[in-house]
Amino acid sequence: MKPRQILVTSALPYANGAIHLGHLVEYIQTDIWVRFQKLSRHECYYVCADDTHGTPIMLRAEKEGITPEALIARVHAEHSRDFAGFHVAFDNYHSTHTPETRHYAEDIYARLKAAGLIEVRTIEQYYDPVKEMFLPDRFIKGECPKCAARDQYGDACEACGAAYAPTELINPYSAVSGATPVLRESEHYFFRLSDPRCQDFLRDYTQRVGPRGAVLQAEAANKMQEWLGAPGENKLTDWDISRDAPYFGFEIPGEDGKGSGKFFYVWLDAPIGYMGSFKNLCDQRGLDFDAYWGKDSAAELYHFIGKDILYFHALFWPAELAHAGYRTPTKIFAHGFLTVDGQKMSKSRGTFITAESYLTQGLNPEWLRYYYAAKLNGSIEDIDLNLDDFVARVNSDLIGKYINIASRCAGFITKRFDGVLAGSDASAALMLSEPEQDRIAGAYEDRDFSRALREIMAYADRGNKYVNDQKPWELAKIPEREAELQIACSVAISLFKSLTALLAPVLPKLAEQVEGFLGIGKLTWADTRSPLPAGHRIKEYKHLMARVETKQIEALVEANRESLEPTAADHPAQSPQRHAQHQQATEDRAQHPPAESFISIDDFSKVDLRIARIVAAAQVDGADKLLTLTLALGTGPDPETRTVFAGIKSSYDPAGLVGRLTVMVANLAPRKMKFGLSEGMVLAASDPEGAGIFLLAPDGGATPGMKVK
Ligand code: 2FM
Ligand code: ZN
Repeated sequence: MKPRQILVTSALPYANGAIHLGHLVEYIQTDIWVRFQKLSRHECYYVCADDTHGTPIMLRAEKEGITPEALIARVHAEHSRDFAGFHVAFDNYHSTHTPETRHYAEDIYARLKAAGLIEVRTIEQYYDPVKEMFLPDRFIKGECPKCAARDQYGDACEACGAAYAPTELINPYSAVSGATPVLRESEHYFFRLSDPRCQDFLRDYTQRVGPRGAVLQAEAANKMQEWLGAPGENKLTDWDISRDAPYFGFEIPGEDGKGSGKFFYVWLDAPIGYMGSFKNLCDQRGLDFDAYWGKDSAAELYHFIGKDILYFHALFWPAELAHAGYRTPTKIFAHGFLTVDGQKMSKSRGTFITAESYLTQGLNPEWLRYYYAAKLNGSIEDIDLNLDDFVARVNSDLIGKYINIASRCAGFITKRFDGVLAGSDASAALMLSEPEQDRIAGAYEDRDFSRALREIMAYADRGNKYVNDQKPWELAKIPEREAELQIACSVAISLFKSLTALLAPVLPKLAEQVEGFLGIGKLTWADTRSPLPAGHRIKEYKHLMARVETKQIEALVEANRESLEPTAADHPAQSPQRHAQHQQATEDRAQHPPAESFISIDDFSKVDLRIARIVAAAQVDGADKLLTLTLALGTGPDPETRTVFAGIKSSYDPAGLVGRLTVMVANLAPRKMKFGLSEGMVLAASDPEGAGIFLLAPDGGATPGMKVK
């Protein structure tokens, strides 16, 4: 069979956040698939890069007091370290902030422009007058227009799930400076996705079934159908691909070789980073770029992505490529999100686990690779990392079934037979059958790793049964059965070699150790069905893999637990409503965890709420909104009192307040105001429009000083 030419990518992680176990679902999945192709002797390349542009990265660098270039260089090193730590073996891990990516971004833009698919239009957008920049949706906050929850992002509400435009937020403010944003006009460049050429192309492309099967998984194809609408419906709208300065990215070329003063939106150059990274690899290795990206390329191109970025990869990206004269992806493989113990990853629960912490806590990366593989089935469904199941699964399959075969037999061969294996018919009898081998290969190819591992473990069970039946430990006690001992252990070691080849895409490091111990060369897929020859000499067996201990998992969770102080937040396990919000919303994927929407009872009990009696109330000279209140916190003749300035003048006449009971925050730090010291705060309900202020009052029977809880 002629080797296939295959180019594979994983989504480019943003260059301002740490790699965590959620990211690793994708990189491990892709890496396993690529390793399987390489093991099958196809010409396969795996490229990726850091996604380096955009407002969040620009602001993050500014906050750290460094240049964006310095930030992305540091993160590139961190990401490279983390991926290597999990044995994710890219052929090239590049960056989008490179000459190659700039070249293809400009090239694609120029070709789309020449095709009449770029349009300049004036739009109105929120602008931060203090910071002097236009604000992406995720940098505008305010109250949700549906449920009034405070501090919600400009695109969707974390509290009620509503999706909306930033202009619908009530009392919007800039998350950068706190200023009230103003609407301002600006010229933007649009990719004309609504053009009939794009719509027609996408209607065909997203439902296409090529020689290697459907371009999209069924669920994804259905989603695209929904987004595209019925033929003639023209549901797609043009895509805004430009951003105004200040912006960290590539300036869009203008006329006469000058810059346009506008920048490519990060999502325009991100997928082009796949090309940039591959071009860089071609230059290193003398490969032919056009053989992979040219319009008539016979090579296969696969993108592994999370389901939340399907819109970019299944619509925008192929439409750009097709109309700029490049080939389009052979298939797009979307996967679901990771939950941990059935819930989205959470910093407060300690389940937002970084790749780095997993490794520095001393956990074996191949445990996780195995566990993810056992869960992945090639669908878009979410996968759950159940921590108890993780321990049980790894220990029972990897240690109890797989490693167990070698650890029970290898010692006899080295100690009693000088490492030399015997030949036997039993080896052939215990070989993996050809249909089994094909089924396992098919499962790998389909990314149904869970099916592949089920078959492989069934094969390991056969090996263990053989060892149990032969009982080498008994044979070893009987001198005249020495030959049988050597055969039994040799057969088991051969089977162990086949198992190792079958598991090599998932456990590449272990496979290398086994190659060393067995004294054999690099395993290939052919090794999955060939016994070691009689007379072959193995080396001394050293323990290959330890069991996972529950206490290691507990320590890992503890190390990742964060207190709920100001910025603590759960990772947006990528909320479903975001998919509808295809444009800017995802720019911040994994970068700006939403504010924690719950507080603990401990947080609440920090607030000392007390019943207070208003013993005096008066106007404040020179203040439009304030009244000064004297509040008594006890009942005796000389109760403790506090002076509070309250913004309730518009709704209350001071005289009518005297004698009333209300609720105050008694432990608020005293605040020096223009009119005097305010020693607390009274509680009142108010309408967002400011239509009224309603002071709280307790039911009859409450007395001043009582704690409210
Ligand atoms: O959502 C994200 O994390 C993006 N950085 C993914 C980009 S994938 C590709 F288009 F580059
Ligand atoms: Zn809401």
